[in-house]
Amino acid sequence: MTSEPRQSLQDRVAIVSGGGNGIGAAIASALAARGARIVVNDIDPARARRQAEEIGERAIAAPGDASSSADVSGVVAKAIEEFGTVDILVNNAGMDQAVSILDLEEEDWDRLIAVNLKSAFLFSKAVLPGMIERGHGRIICTSSVVAHRGAMNGGIHYGTTKGGMLGFARTLARQMARTGVTVNAIAPGVVDTDLIRTHMPDEVRARVIEDIPLGRLAEPGEIGHAVAFLASDEAAYITGATLDVNGGFWIG
Ligand SMILES: NC(=O)c1ccc[n+]([C@@H]2O[C@H](COP(=O)([O-])OP(=O)(O)OC[C@H]3O[C@@H](n4cnc5c(N)ncnc54)[C@H](O)[C@@H]3O)[C@@H](O)[C@H]2O)c1
Repeated sequence: MTSEPRQSLQDRVAIVSGGGNGIGAAIASALAARGARIVVNDIDPARARRQAEEIGERAIAAPGDASSSADVSGVVAKAIEEFGTVDILVNNAGMDQAVSILDLEEEDWDRLIAVNLKSAFLFSKAVLPGMIERGHGRIICTSSVVAHRGAMNGGIHYGTTKGGMLGFARTLARQMARTGVTVNAIAPGVVDTDLIRTHMPDEVRARVIEDIPLGRLAEPGEIGHAVAFLASDEAAYITGATLDVNGGFWIG
């Protein structure tokens, strides 16, 4: 009798922030497809529920603002209550605002920096004690090709957070290096999601596609597969790295 092959993320528990839509939803699905149980966090409760339902019984919705320490504590507590542990954290929650620095308001700078960057600090700090205790963990931070190239269309605050994610992941990778917790960044190119559809005018989109060596935008699932690899046991020797998934848009 042959038994089913063990799935690469079987018995792992993952929190995906901003997991209710776009890239985060695709990451949640990709991790679930490899056997992980998923906590779908999103500031929009309906999105979190929809994605958890789409994944099925191995997923729960945990709505909350990833930039609020109280909400983040609640999400992590819910994950532990439901599944007993957190093995994988994907810091994916993010927002964009296509605006020139000349028109950017201070409160908009503060809000976007909190959502895109402080959220990674809060979630990582909340899950790390458990990961360190078990001697195993995977933290994956969503940066962007704009960390390398500068934002083509997004705001200066957006570009700043995506560069900041690289510094965050590299520094945390060093701090955690002897604990069994790896920390890496994923830097997607331009991915066909609402974030791009909302903020990138058609003429900019056409120019960008022209500029991408592979000649197309990325599908969200293509980012999901890359994150699933970084979350797996096979990626144990990768830490402090940036995985570029950008169709050759930036080759460094
Ligand atoms: N789309 C791209 O081309 C692209 C490229 C590189 C990096 N990224 C990054 O990938 C991540 C996901 O982007 P996307 O394109 O899927 O965007 P999206 O707008 O489709 O989805 C983002 C999700 O995050 C949620 N969210 C927003 N603020 C939140 C908060 N404070 N707390 C919890 N959830 C929150 C939203 O409700 C939404 O469901 C972002 O960090 C983005 O910067 C996107």
